[in-house]
Amino acid sequence: MLDLSPDKILVTGGAGYIGSHTVVALMEAGFDVYVVDNLSNSNIEVLNGIEQITGKRPLFENIDCTDYVAMDKFFTKHEGIKAVIHFAASKAVGESVTVPLKYYRNNVVGLVNLLELMPIHKVQGLVFSSSCTVYGQPDILPVDETAPIKKALSPYGNTKQICENIIFDTVHANNALKSIILRYFNPIGAHPSALIGELPNGVPNNLVPFVVQTAAGVYKKIRIFGDDYNTPDGTCIRDYINVMDLAEAHVSAVKRLIDKDLTMPEVFNLGTGKGLSVMELIKTFEAVTGMRVPYEIVGRREGDIEQVWANPTLAQKVLKWKAKTSVEDTLASAWRWQQHCMEAKNDK
Ligand code: UD1
Repeated sequence: MLDLSPDKILVTGGAGYIGSHTVVALMEAGFDVYVVDNLSNSNIEVLNGIEQITGKRPLFENIDCTDYVAMDKFFTKHEGIKAVIHFAASKAVGESVTVPLKYYRNNVVGLVNLLELMPIHKVQGLVFSSSCTVYGQPDILPVDETAPIKKALSPYGNTKQICENIIFDTVHANNALKSIILRYFNPIGAHPSALIGELPNGVPNNLVPFVVQTAAGVYKKIRIFGDDYNTPDGTCIRDYINVMDLAEAHVSAVKRLIDKDLTMPEVFNLGTGKGLSVMELIKTFEAVTGMRVPYEIVGRREGDIEQVWANPTLAQKVLKWKAKTSVEDTLASAWRWQQHCMEAKNDK
């Protein structure tokens, strides 16, 4: 008999920033979504936001992906998972320098467990969250997927390179496994409803959460790390991509994994194709929101890359996906989310 029930997808790290937005996109595309997260850098309340947006609560289990036995039990309990999107990982570049083993354990062991368990439980497809950090400072911009992988500047960056290599070797050795590796540029913003967004624990490391919280008065000013780079205004350039656009790319990737026979992993850049400097981003945020973001220029941050933006044409061609939200709308969504968080805090 033809099985018409929706495909089951496991999202590890589905309570996190990119994970939660992807859960929404998958549910809206009709998938049956299962979330595994150890809540180490996320909050269970995100499930309420997902439920408010989609009208449905995804199944959730508090499991650490590095726990092989618990993951094995999960797959046994929820048999028939078609594909896994693996977000669960640590991502603070600076922290990875001070506690490298936390990064190697969480990021590498979590992946190895999944790759071992997937064939046992007949799960064929893995979408892996990688990063443009694997390119280091590219020689040619915009950077495409054929650019050489540069020596990693941090243990975090190294884990992404190692994980990509592990996936290549494993898929090469096992015909039943398929994988798509997605290299994210800089995801920012929140769901347009402002019911879910980025919830950094403590002082944010990344630019946009810091900008938004400075505008909200949480911090007096933002420090711009260097204005003496070889760029038009001297500040670093990145490719800032809307998090819901990024989430949609995962839906395309999962569909491709389920539908196609892929013999080798496929790699895609997920970016807009446009670079924006730190200064331009702050000025755009101020123009869009009418808020002021006081700043001071300080020295360069160790490990920062001068400029990087994507050539996203491969994803466009193969995944039929394209970033479509303007940076103005994206920054407005980040600000709405900040306001939502402040209102929620005041209500408590
Ligand atoms: C970093 C990592 C990237 C990782 C991502 C997720 C590097 C080189 N890249 O991206 O691999 O996937 O985090 O966590 O480490 N900035 C300021 N002031 C601030 C914060 C940031 O000026 O308070 C600047 C930075 O110097 C940089 C830009 O803003 O030029 C973007 O920084 P950030 O948001 O931290 O992202 P990346 O460093 O690009």
